[in-house]
Order: sequence, then C-alpha cells, then structure tokens
Amino acid sequence: MAAEVRNSSNVVAFHVKAQGCLEPFWGFRSRAGGPRFGAKLWGGRFTGATDPVMERFNASVAYDQRMWDADLRGSKAYAKALRQAELLGADETDGILRGLDQIGEEWSRGAFVLKDGDEDIHAANERRLKELIGPAAGKLHTGRSRNDQVVTDMRLWLRDGIAALKDHALLLISALVERAAAEMDVLFPGYTHMQRAQPIRWSHWILSHAVALRRDVERLQEIGKRVNVLPLGSGAIAGTPFAIDRELLRKELRFDEISLNSMDATGQRDFVAEFLFWASLCATHLSKMAEDLLLYSTKEFSFVTLADAYSTGSSLMPQKKNADSLELIRSKAGRIFGRCAGFMMTLKGLPSCYNKDLQEDKEAMFDAYDSILAVLQVAAGVVSTLKIDAGAMEAALSPDMLATDLAYYLVRKGVAFREAHALAGKAVLAAESKKVPLDQLTAEDLNAISPLLAGDAASVWNYASSVEQYAAAGGTAESSVRAQLRHLRAWMANVRPAPPPSP
Ligand code: ARG
Repeated sequence: MAAEVRNSSNVVAFHVKAQGCLEPFWGFRSRAGGPRFGAKLWGGRFTGATDPVMERFNASVAYDQRMWDADLRGSKAYAKALRQAELLGADETDGILRGLDQIGEEWSRGAFVLKDGDEDIHAANERRLKELIGPAAGKLHTGRSRNDQVVTDMRLWLRDGIAALKDHALLLISALVERAAAEMDVLFPGYTHMQRAQPIRWSHWILSHAVALRRDVERLQEIGKRVNVLPLGSGAIAGTPFAIDRELLRKELRFDEISLNSMDATGQRDFVAEFLFWASLCATHLSKMAEDLLLYSTKEFSFVTLADAYSTGSSLMPQKKNADSLELIRSKAGRIFGRCAGFMMTLKGLPSCYNKDLQEDKEAMFDAYDSILAVLQVAAGVVSTLKIDAGAMEAALSPDMLATDLAYYLVRKGVAFREAHALAGKAVLAAESKKVPLDQLTAEDLNAISPLLAGDAASVWNYASSVEQYAAAGGTAESSVRAQLRHLRAWMANVRPAPPPSP
C-alpha cells in the first residue's frame, strides 16, 4: 500500500494509501501533484510542486469557506480604501466590486465551484475574481496579506456569531424566567453533596440557572467589544506602506476600533481563546442544569418528565424514554472545553506574529460556536416543554430537612447557634434511633434534649412557612424569588440590542 511519490523537486514521500472510509477529511481532494505551482498566491519563488498530501494538509478551505461572506465584505472595503489611495482606478474599483458581488451571489446560490489549488477562502475568492474580471483582480491584494485578511474575516464572522448567541441565550433565560413565574408555589428538596439539604422553591432552582446565564451574556458582550477591532491594514507583520485609510476601513466594516499594533493584530488570537473559554463556561453551566434535570427525570425522583420532542427511545427496551437531549448538553461541555484546551496548547510556545499553527483557530471557533448554539437551543426547548410533578416534588420533602430550622428556632429563643446546632443534631439522632421522622418526636423526647424545645417547636414542621423565613435578598422566600424575577426581567429589557447587521 505504500506508494512512492516523486514531485518535481525530486522529493520522495511515502504515502500509505488511505482506503474508502479511512480517507482523512482534511478538505477537498486535490489531483496528485496539485495545481500548477505558478497558480498559487505564493508560487513565484517556487520551482517544485507541492506534495499532494502536503497540499491537503495545508488547505483550510474545507472549513474556512464558512467565512466567504466576511471575506467578500472585507475585500469590498479594502477595494474602496485602495481606490481612495489611488492604487486602483475608478473602473478597476467598479470591476472589483461587481466581481465580488457576483462571487457572493454564487456562494449564496451554492453555485461557487472550488478548484484544485484553492488553498483557503481567500485564495478561492481571489482566484474566482481573476476569472471574472481579469488582471485587475491582481491589484486587490496590494499592501494586504492573508495574515490581516484572515483575522479580519474571523472577527467579522464571530461578531455576527456573538450576536446570534446572545439572542439564543436571552431566549433561554426568558424561558427560565417565565417558568419560574408560573410555578412559584412549587416546593421541593434542595440538595448539597447530592443529599437532601433544605426545602426550596422550584422557581429558586430555575432562577439559579438563569442568573448564571445572565453572567454569560454579560461576559459575551465584554468579549464582543474586544472582537470588534479592525486588523485590516496591518499587512503581514509591519503594517502598510500605502496610503490605506484605516479609519475608512473601520467605518465600512463597522468596527469600533482600529488595532494598535500590526504585529499584535496579525499574530494574536486572544479573541478566539476568550470565545472558547466563554463557550466552555456557558456549556458548563448548562451541563450542571442538565445533570440536575437528568436526576429529577429518573423514576426514582419523578420530579420532571421531558417532552417527547426532547427524548429518544431504546431500540431494545420498549419502555425506555431517555433524556438524550440533556445527556448531549452535558457532553458538549467536555467537547467545547476540549477545543479551548486544545487551542491554548496550540498558542502556547508560539513565537510572535503569524505562524501557520494559527490556522487551527477556525475549526475550534466554528465547532465551539456550533456546539454552544445547539446547546442553547435545545436547552430552551427542554426547559419550556418539560412537565413537572408538583405532588412528587413536595412528597419528597422530609422533616429532617427542617433540622436547620429547628436550630434557628432555638437561636430565636436566645441559644447560641453552635449550641442550637448541637441540640438539633441530638433531636435528629433521637429520631433516627427511634426510627421515627424528626417531627414525630414526643414532647418528652424534645424536653429531654432541651426544655426550650418543649414549647411551640411544632411550628417548625411546616415546609411552606420554612421557605418563607428565607426572605433576605437572594433567598427562597416568595418575596425574594419575585425580586429575582423582577431583576432579571428588567435586565433583559435593558440588554443592549444587537448591533445592526454587518454591511
Ligand atoms: N489559511 C490561513 C489561515 O487560516 C490564512 C493565512 C495564511 N497566511 C500565510 N502567510 N500563509 O491562517
């Protein structure tokens, strides 16, 4: 299976012939020997052809073609800057702009044909422009490098991506808020260490996830500011020697700022790393929510039932209804963090400025984007369609969950908390040794632990009044949960509207 391939530089490479489904998917397949090297954007100084495996290894067009629109927008703005700098004539500029529009139209119709040698989206669009308008296409790249072009495209693409993610995160928050408002009266067990802890409102649990997402939206907006910076005009490393008006480029492409340093602008990918971390953290929040709901959806808990729309069955066991939606949400957190950790490893140890390692940024960014977008959409669907069993939730409450309230009862009688905690603990022990629920201890049992418990301690054994004690801001009392709802609703109404669609 090993085949000897000798290219025109007389370099011999041994390829193990991949077969059928073992073919790597590194991109479109080029003909052995690849395109004429003279046809490459960088072919001038070469005399030998690229090894076909290297051709595929090097190519990013299979995935970076997603940025076709951003690439064309950047090129149109750049053509205008070249015109202003008198590096393009009026007719040449018109030709380039019309050609770029036609390419956009081909991409949007699905009619753009990739050819061998289209190494990346930048090369593909430029090759097509030359086919459409001839030699004037060769002027478009004056003073520009793929180093500033690729990072401009990515920032334009991610800016739109961030706007979409923000909208979807807000839809999910709103589904959580509406559910919490509608199911305010439902009480159920709250858990720490996965052990029954204290009675809480179901709405309180719901909103605990909404407030984490609120922070995610805020973080996304922060990242958005740092994404919205124009790198174009930085050239490959040193900047541009031509009279390119970067302010014109900034306005045309609706960036907030212009990058300050051309080496930094072309060689750093902080904005990608920040986005990957953002997606990891957001997915981790939703993984936590998913894990809770998975537990609550087991027969043993029976607190919630997922809609059929978000469940799947077993091919073997007819009774099964599996919460695959929640499991996949949980799993995506691992996948997305893998992208984040992997890309950090790519960045670690890189020298300054552009290195081809940076080409890896796009698959990480696209995959994290696709994954977190799907997670947000599915989570919103699950949350707005699941059914709860309020009876089962309240039936799961047990008097031992009020032991803390028993201690607080003693605190209100003047007992120091540590002492009160120990006395309530003795009551728990007494109930366990008598094998009765905590609220079934007799007046004598309680009196033996502390005479202070012999009075009106029975008032403690009420879940509804228990939760109402927790009325300080952030607590589970109705007034406090309603305050959380008001806060989130006001915040949602105020979240900066998405920026106008990119030009
Ligand atoms: N496809 C490349 C990337 O995604 C574009 C930049 C290539 N620059 C270069 N000097 N080879 O990073």
